[in-house]
Amino acid sequence: MEQYVIKGGNPLVGEVDIAGAKNAALAILAAAIMTDETILIENLPDVRDINVLLEAIAKIGAHVERIDRSVVKINGSTIGELSVDYEYIKKIRASYYLLGALLGKYKHAEVPLPGGCNIGSRPIDQHLKGFRALGAKVSILHGAIVAEAKELKGSHIFMDVVSVGATINIMMAASMAQGRTIIENAAREPHVVDVANFLNSMGANIKGAGTDVIRIKGVEKLHKTEYSIIPDQIEAGTFMFAAAATQGDVTVRNVIPKHLEATTAKLEEIGCQVEEFDDAVRVVANKRLRRTHVKTLPYPGYPTDMQPQIAVTLALAEGTSIVTESIFENRFKYADELSRMGANIKVEGNTAIIDGVQKLTGARVSAPDLRAGAALVIAGLAADGITIVDDIVYIQRGYESFEEKLRSLGAEIEKVSSEKEIQKFRLRVG
Ligand code: UD1
Repeated sequence: MEQYVIKGGNPLVGEVDIAGAKNAALAILAAAIMTDETILIENLPDVRDINVLLEAIAKIGAHVERIDRSVVKINGSTIGELSVDYEYIKKIRASYYLLGALLGKYKHAEVPLPGGCNIGSRPIDQHLKGFRALGAKVSILHGAIVAEAKELKGSHIFMDVVSVGATINIMMAASMAQGRTIIENAAREPHVVDVANFLNSMGANIKGAGTDVIRIKGVEKLHKTEYSIIPDQIEAGTFMFAAAATQGDVTVRNVIPKHLEATTAKLEEIGCQVEEFDDAVRVVANKRLRRTHVKTLPYPGYPTDMQPQIAVTLALAEGTSIVTESIFENRFKYADELSRMGANIKVEGNTAIIDGVQKLTGARVSAPDLRAGAALVIAGLAADGITIVDDIVYIQRGYESFEEKLRSLGAEIEKVSSEKEIQKFRLRVG
């Protein structure tokens, strides 16, 4: 089991390049199998979730050729299996995107039902409601979702909750349905737009992505394309909060500043200076930060995937902050770990009340999930002394070269896999 060992106290300073968006890439890779022609995808992040999905895609018979770390070619003409292994869905929920992709292309898909996960129960009723509205028969058989149709027919679908996954899954299937589909109350996240742009570059006819009404005119066939994935707004935001929490000066490069607006606004509110460039954002923190209130919301609101990172930063800010989580039910699991580092954080229902402290102190903590894990690393970077973060396998699901990038900004952080290595780090940093 690997861990991060961190000696905190260095302000992060410098420039860092942001990788492609994991959550866009997961859907785009699944959608790539919807044609029999070859798709080239660039700016792919080299993270565990992506690599697992590529394995799942190869396992159903598609040809997957990794050209280099960030480029892959996929050809779906050799798919022989319309059923995805449980092994993959267990590792990444997003393999459920193969449901929409396979159903759209072959009118038949079998994908194991994803279970709950660390941030709470995650129903997929809206995905299934959408497939049914398109005319698919959807049943649960032996723990798997089986969706099939003679033909898919466009429909008018009103989503009961704003769901990124359901919007994308329905958009994929509807792209190859007969006639027109309208998705109302659609998610507006940048990755929904990116998937729509990708599908359109394959010949789909999708309009309105990025608004809450998406209109799709089904086409019979999709074709080859070359596509570059948008930058990861959550990776970028994580480095922006790392700059804030360590009183640093960091420029995140290769980003779309518009996608970071909710994060930028909060950083300014708590006393950081944020400068926007065409494709970069600089965050400078040179005084003690101030309290604020924040509530997670669907885009363009403050992202739930940035909730632990702001909470950790507020743990060091002056005054009492309130962080409200409105998307997932169990996203404060890191609070106890943060308390062990000296934070004053109390969770009541979906709210965390944080009384800022002057300093955090290093401790041994464990990452409960992907984003909370990254947030605990930020806490370690800002804390006095040594922090050890266990279970970093969660962090590796979504951050490419996390420790290398942090080191390039002046952080003292190492990935280790034994107590002996931790000891060595302690001796080295003194
Ligand atoms: C995606 C992101 C995840 C992010 C989340 C919210 C990926 C791979 N993951 O997850 O990182 O935190 O968006 O921005 O892109 N819901 C239902 N029924 C459904 C579907 C969702 O009730 O059928 C609820 C969920 O429980 C949750 C809310 O809707 O409360 C939003 O979930 P959703 O947007 O679907 O999240 P994911 O697509 O799973």
